[in-house]
Amino acid sequence: MSVLEQLRLAVTAVRRPALRLLLLGYFGYCLARKASRVALVVYAFDVGGVHTASVVAAAQLIPAIVAPPVASVFGDRLSSEAALTLGYVLQAVALVGTGVSMIGDWPLVVTVLLAAAAAAAFTLTRPVYLATLPDVVEHPDELALGNAASTWVDGLASVVGPVLAGTGLLLIGGGPVIVLLGATCLASALVSTRVRTDRPTPASASGVTGALSAGIRAVTCDRDLRSIAAITMAMYAVVGLLDVLLVVVVVELLGLDSARTGGLTAAIGAGAVLGGVTATALAGRARLMPAVVGGALCVGLPLALLAVSSRFWVSAALLAGVGAGKSVVTVGLQTLLQRTIDEGVAVRVFGVQESLVQAGTAAGAALGPLLVVVLGLPGALVCTGVILPAATILGLASLGRLDARAVVPGAVFSLLRSVPFLALLPVRSVERMARHAVSVSVAEGEVVVQEGEAGDRFYVIVRGAAVVTRAGVLLRRLGAGQWFGEIALLRDVPRTATVAAVGPLQLVGLERDVFLSTLTGTDRAHRAATRTVEDHLAADHLRPPDVDAG
Ligand code: CMP
Repeated sequence: MSVLEQLRLAVTAVRRPALRLLLLGYFGYCLARKASRVALVVYAFDVGGVHTASVVAAAQLIPAIVAPPVASVFGDRLSSEAALTLGYVLQAVALVGTGVSMIGDWPLVVTVLLAAAAAAAFTLTRPVYLATLPDVVEHPDELALGNAASTWVDGLASVVGPVLAGTGLLLIGGGPVIVLLGATCLASALVSTRVRTDRPTPASASGVTGALSAGIRAVTCDRDLRSIAAITMAMYAVVGLLDVLLVVVVVELLGLDSARTGGLTAAIGAGAVLGGVTATALAGRARLMPAVVGGALCVGLPLALLAVSSRFWVSAALLAGVGAGKSVVTVGLQTLLQRTIDEGVAVRVFGVQESLVQAGTAAGAALGPLLVVVLGLPGALVCTGVILPAATILGLASLGRLDARAVVPGAVFSLLRSVPFLALLPVRSVERMARHAVSVSVAEGEVVVQEGEAGDRFYVIVRGAAVVTRAGVLLRRLGAGQWFGEIALLRDVPRTATVAAVGPLQLVGLERDVFLSTLTGTDRAHRAATRTVEDHLAADHLRPPDVDAG
């Protein structure tokens, strides 16, 4: 895909109202999450010093690790718009409660509990958001773009959020800042009520525990998803390590005041935004493994070089590289997951990922001081630099297999989307069909479907022509782009007519199970398909034979 085509794709994607609304809501969420963390820790520090600050930080971390898989079970049972709105409303309520408790000088334990509730509520959003993205894009090529745009939004919030929190703390104080951030979440909730998607809501036959373990099993029983989980955890262990190491870099290596650490953190954020922009180049790429490997090296190499840099700006530039690499890896991994996981467990799989993100960050932060003591600062930096590339290299085979699993044959996808009732399905469902479709060549005169036989497949004509006959009487002629074989599958009856090739015929076929399971997942498409069947059958009684299908 040329740069010009990618640009055109980006413009088309950004014009999609559902994607814009989704991104807007997500920005409010990222801002509230990042800014409230800063405001809370500073508040706790002011109230009770470093000890209280670390208790408050831990009280936020534990729900952030434990809650996502559980929250995502509920997220998987609601429509995307309901789950997003609910998550934002809960965040708003918990944040406003926390802010009011801070303003009213309620006991610290109350504030901490309310803040922990907010931290738990925050975990509902990202899994649902990531599982919803594939449903608001109109073409598989746009998916990586949606993910790239999400990393800009996230990067932007990590630069703006702490600045806003800092300014707000000075001007109006911690409590009011947190209340305002609650209002931001409420705005996100309002925005997300206007998002419309067709994500099929899976049947919730199993209880909460069953659904929870099914989500965890979806990751642990698939060796390729296990590798993605390991790479994700490695990446966030690096993030956690950096949280600790950066201040030591500033003081020991650069010989500067620890307050300059903020500048280096901002460099990572700015790099993340740049990386998000670079990652738009992944749109339309069939293979994402090279991008993930490249991104991992972009994270690792600058970290090792940081050990020998003695200038602030050089270090800042190296850290911008780290941020950029992280964005590229994130977009690559997210897109791979969205392309391959079954939509029925998507929110739960992203719930497990979210939990690993938090656990990885915590493990990294805990490991940081130990590494510095054992290896010294330069050694600790080199070791930190090695983690992500090493995990990626160990996962290379899995990344390659996931790339192969995710390939969507573009021409087949477009052909299937041109069938009116399939066009009503979410993009991801048509992608799934395209991946499972088989190509069938039929010689002149050969019968594809025989009246009275059991139905096994649904067909769409790629090239050539066919005739539909019943009891030897011609009913219709079909040409390229038209379809047949849906009646027996949808009504569970024998084939209602015979379809034979007029000349050489090229078809795309969908096996009964794939066709039915995908179509019945979306009410609107299923109803439209049923209507098509009824129209066809009704028309047979009215129309004279030999009328072309519409
Ligand atoms: P099915 O009954 O599965 O197999 C034969 C197919 O012929 C049938 O599905 C329809 O796709 C097609 N068919 C039957 N009757 C008509 C019709 N009147 N118009 C168009 N297609 C038809």
